[in-house]
Amino acid sequence: MTKNKTKTRRLALLAQEARYQAHAPYSKFRVGAALLAKDGTVFTGCNIENSSYSLTVCAERTAVFKAYSEGVREFEAIAVASDDPEFTPPCGACRQVLYDLAGNIDFIMINSKKQLKTVKLKSLLPMAFTSSNLDRVQRKK
Ligand code: THU
Repeated sequence: MTKNKTKTRRLALLAQEARYQAHAPYSKFRVGAALLAKDGTVFTGCNIENSSYSLTVCAERTAVFKAYSEGVREFEAIAVASDDPEFTPPCGACRQVLYDLAGNIDFIMINSKKQLKTVKLKSLLPMAFTSSNLDRVQRKK
């Protein structure tokens, strides 16, 4: 196996493991994430649901917020695993938050059959709103 494939497989395993920490009493849909930083550090995350439902935080956002809170800002890839035999794509909120905070990283999905599918984050969020949109207006003032 190539070095890159091994790295991806390792990240996928960490995402699958992180899924066991999920707090998902309402949906019973467990999700685990493993975010790889450029320095090699991995931040894991799981979904954390709330009795008021809408305050739920997805696994991807848990992972990226953990990384930011530790001062880490540069990333390569994120792996996301669920118990679904189909691939689990990120919700709209996670697409925006990840693209904003992590950029055009690899988004690796792992299904319950242990199959992997990798896409670039940008392909999931065409015409993304970013800080550059804000900059253009703020520069004028
Ligand atoms: N969920 C994630 O954590 N990540 C995704 O990519 C999709 C959805 C969570 C949110 C909620 O706890 C449960 O899955 C069902 O939507």
